[in-house]
Amino acid sequence: MAQHICFIGAGNMATSLIGGLIANGHSASSITACDPNEQQCLTLADKYGINTVADNAEAVSTADAVVLAVKPQIMQMVCEPLAASLQEHKPVIISVAAGVRCDDLDTWLGGSQAIVRCMPNTPALYGFGAAGLFATRSVSPSQQALSTHIAESVGIVEWVQSEAQIDAVTALSGSGPAYGFLLLEAMQAAAVTLGLPEQTARTLATQTLLGAAVMARDDPRDAGTLRQAVTSKGGTTAAALTVFERADFHALVADAMQAACTRADELAKATGDA
Ligand SMILES: NC(=O)c1ccc[n+]([C@@H]2O[C@H](COP(=O)([O-])OP(=O)(O)OC[C@H]3O[C@@H](n4cnc5c(N)ncnc54)[C@H](OP(=O)(O)O)[C@@H]3O)[C@@H](O)[C@H]2O)c1
Repeated sequence: MAQHICFIGAGNMATSLIGGLIANGHSASSITACDPNEQQCLTLADKYGINTVADNAEAVSTADAVVLAVKPQIMQMVCEPLAASLQEHKPVIISVAAGVRCDDLDTWLGGSQAIVRCMPNTPALYGFGAAGLFATRSVSPSQQALSTHIAESVGIVEWVQSEAQIDAVTALSGSGPAYGFLLLEAMQAAAVTLGLPEQTARTLATQTLLGAAVMARDDPRDAGTLRQAVTSKGGTTAAALTVFERADFHALVADAMQAACTRADELAKATGDA
């Protein structure tokens, strides 16, 4: 029988995970969602045939995995009433909340819980997510496999060895979609300045970044080698890349990601101290 997965909070991220699990063949009767928004629960029950329950503590009582998918600022308030039920049967707890540390979750849930911290990203909403996962020592191999099964339903999964690395994941894939959008914005605007209609600029810029990402994913050569392979000496690409290099593009990206990583740490500390 399929393992029972319970979602606490049925907003955007939970909805995409539920859709992904169903599309991957996970049985709808083994999925429960719990959310104060009744309409959202009805929509999910209608669309996917999953169970919905009004009471969070009742919802988690039979789960093999509990996915905490509420906003970080209400996480403590949501967790504390679940502690008694979760202490009884100890499912794996998977938190997708940005900037909430495992230690804080464990304290709010009464201690000694098997906790997985998952940092997903927004393209998960389209099945193209990239998630970094960290497991505390209490998580068993089968609970780790169940966590992979859930996160992989909306994209790719990479496990990291320390919780501090989740801040680096946040700086890379968590915030990364915005870096892609920034480059897209800049390329589109420059193309319009060069004389292309806006829609043409948008279509070509988007497909170009998508194509580059697919090549980088599917070709075994690294990104630097791929870049060199499409850059002929004295050609147009070389002319553009010289301008990027003059502005020390690598250092700029490194500074930006360091800022994101530092901010992730500050936010997690603030959530734990609140
Ligand atoms: N969306 C993303 O791309 C993304 C990416 C990375 C990480 N995350 C993380 O995923 C988590 C959820 O984000 P989201 O975008 O899915 O947010 P969301 O759409 O606002 O979903 C959160 C849901 O939790 C519900 N909720 C509020 N109080 C609750 C309670 N006491 N018990 C159960 N459910 C409750 C909310 O209902 P109401 O609306 O009625 O309050 C809402 O439906 C966040 O912690 C976020 O950091 C999201």
